[in-house]
Amino acid sequence: MSGPIASQTVGPPVGARIRLSSNESPFGPSPAAIEAMQDTLSSSHRYPDDQSVALRTALAEHEEVALEQVAVANGSAALLMDLVPHLCAPGDEVLAYAHSFIVYRLGAKNAGATYVEVEDGGPARSGTDGYARDVDALLAAITDRTKLILIDNPGNPTGTHLTGEQLRDLVTRVPEHVTVTIDEAYHHFATGQRGYQPIRDLGSSHPRVLSLRTFSKAYALAGMRVGYVVGPADIVQPLDARRPRFNVTTAAQAAAAASLGDRDHLQRTIDGTLAGRDRMAAGLRELGVPFTDGLGNFLTIECGTPAGPVVEAYGQAGVGVRTLGPYGMGEQFRATIGTPDETEEFLRVSRDVLAEIPARA
Ligand SMILES: Cc1ncc(COP(=O)(O)O)c(C=O)c1O
Repeated sequence: MSGPIASQTVGPPVGARIRLSSNESPFGPSPAAIEAMQDTLSSSHRYPDDQSVALRTALAEHEEVALEQVAVANGSAALLMDLVPHLCAPGDEVLAYAHSFIVYRLGAKNAGATYVEVEDGGPARSGTDGYARDVDALLAAITDRTKLILIDNPGNPTGTHLTGEQLRDLVTRVPEHVTVTIDEAYHHFATGQRGYQPIRDLGSSHPRVLSLRTFSKAYALAGMRVGYVVGPADIVQPLDARRPRFNVTTAAQAAAAASLGDRDHLQRTIDGTLAGRDRMAAGLRELGVPFTDGLGNFLTIECGTPAGPVVEAYGQAGVGVRTLGPYGMGEQFRATIGTPDETEEFLRVSRDVLAEIPARA
């Protein structure tokens, strides 16, 4: 086989010293999670608890819902890949904003459903965030065939968000037969800022609202693969029945449950990420580079020129950042917030790499 293997094309550039390409936490998992994982290793000859009862019980308590309203899987992307075919037959429509998380499109394809995108406000300009989302535009795109609305809030790779007020307005006006899934992978980095509110805090009475969350971001367990969904039991239970059996390992279940209990580590991760995000944003402003000051653990930066060579130049300087071609964003790249040293190194390299780019809009 010639050319890079698939894992290289989605992972960081080979040889990158600093990996800011996959929106991972640079602060590592909770020590309690590491200990919990280690404690499971000697019983690895046993299958995991297929129902993840201990983890789901902890999650149900955490989310203040009944056990039947929580399902876990090996990553929230896996839940999405099951959710779309669960709710949509071929010809049904899945509705999402443009530049949403790529797995929505893949899930729709998996289901033979039609993926309908609602335009957003487009790229950032100097001093103005990009990719703003319009609630009326999304509502206007609902048809008789719409079965599922998927909203990443905050969005990846845009970082943009709907405020609690906008989300309440949206959910109140969506017809009751349409399922609304709010993908809150980055909610820890957004809550309480610029009007952002997680869906559970809005007290919506819509009967088909799901919230999707992951242990891959603020809990720093991306390699363990654990995500979960919370919603009405009559949607969550049949969705869970689609899941391949035993798909969340014993170590992953233990790590996730232990992470939930370590509020201090979580808070340190959030604080470190927000401080790094402020620092990265300030550094980019100093450079005069347009970017979206989003609420995730990353920033989305405008090149004003094809991003491929720019990202390659970062890679050559040892810093892995992510091109966004698959999202139809050819002139943008995404940089994850690193440790303080990593973020400084990113800014140092940016001074050289971005200075090479001709004047931007
Ligand atoms: C918006 C969004 N949703 C879901 C996921 C998937 O997370 P995981 O499958 O690791 O739980 C990601 C990962 O980057 C994401 O950005």
